Amino acid sequence: MYTQNTKQKFDALRGGNPVVMGIESSCDETAVAIVRGRKVLSNVVASQIDIHVKYGGVVPEVASRSHTDAILPCVDEALERAGLSLDDIDCIGVTYGAGLIGSLLVGVSTAKAISLAKNIPLVKVDHIEGHICADYIDTDLKPPFVALVASGGHTSVIRVKGYNEYETLGSTRDDAIGEAFDKVARMLGLPYPGGPQVDKLAKQGNACIKFYKHGKGVNPDLSLSYSGLKTAVVNYIHNARQRGEEICAADICASFTAEAVDLLVDTALEGVRRSKLDTIALAGGVAANSYLREKIAALGKAKGYKVVCPPLPLCTDNAAMIAVRAYFSAVEGKNYADMYLNARPGL
Ligand code: KG4
Ligand code: ZN
Repeated sequence: MYTQNTKQKFDALRGGNPVVMGIESSCDETAVAIVRGRKVLSNVVASQIDIHVKYGGVVPEVASRSHTDAILPCVDEALERAGLSLDDIDCIGVTYGAGLIGSLLVGVSTAKAISLAKNIPLVKVDHIEGHICADYIDTDLKPPFVALVASGGHTSVIRVKGYNEYETLGSTRDDAIGEAFDKVARMLGLPYPGGPQVDKLAKQGNACIKFYKHGKGVNPDLSLSYSGLKTAVVNYIHNARQRGEEICAADICASFTAEAVDLLVDTALEGVRRSKLDTIALAGGVAANSYLREKIAALGKAKGYKVVCPPLPLCTDNAAMIAVRAYFSAVEGKNYADMYLNARPGL
């Protein structure tokens, strides 16, 4: 099915400096990028926000169809912007999970088709590890460090032991933090995606409402939970409306944000302390949150830790981070994928 030559080509990338194309289609962004190491040569993102905004959230079937339309134009544009052709690509990295099955399959099938047609080695990329690799772009960050991944689908504190070695120290037991942001936004009638809207409104409010009583600070197993807080905010809004009371959306956003983020930051910093490391790197869509960025920068500085935050466009889904993740796999001979690669929605 796949030529022997392709695996040999992959093995030859070890220790080199390959040009890598990354393909990402796990949720609602179709993205293709080309990198050489930590340097981004092109980074194309076709966002579906305008499509999903009418439904107030991502509709999986609509997302898959939209990826199908956008993926090849994104490949062409990424090559054009980098001034390269497919013959210049040494390796292709593709997100194979976690995500929506129909969406993932568009990226995986495209990557496999190009790989087979052009005999370019393929690397499978875990979306979360991809988010963490956004922190390597144009920085000199080196493992080991602790990463805080906060996105629409995941909330985890991860010890990055090497470029290809990750250990989860703690994660959410239920909802992801981004899901909670999006739900609160929806309750307040703010457009999708809710996180940036809540961020904006929170700046005009005061964190004067206590929604939910967490336990005694950081959980010993570094686990997190967002469904209780999310439900508490939903009930607060619901009850106030039923009583005909006026609600202050800005105060709700500020209070929810503080409650959601404070424990997250404390948990991440505890992960760094326990790991006896000195660097914490933020990743994922919620890493774009201004309160989170300020809070972790201030507390990290007070404790003597180095804090790394990717620029805003590299926090949310993009393919540059996927390509960088694949680059570090290729140069260490890891995560090679053949034509049997399939999407893994629950990875
Ligand atoms: O990483 P991402 O693009 O997709 C996933 O892998 O899930 O994250 C998207 C999530 C959404 O929930 C979105 O509302 C949230 O990140 N988000 C934010 C902000 N920007 C994006 N949440 C809070 N504040 C922001 N500024
Ligand atoms: Zn993501």
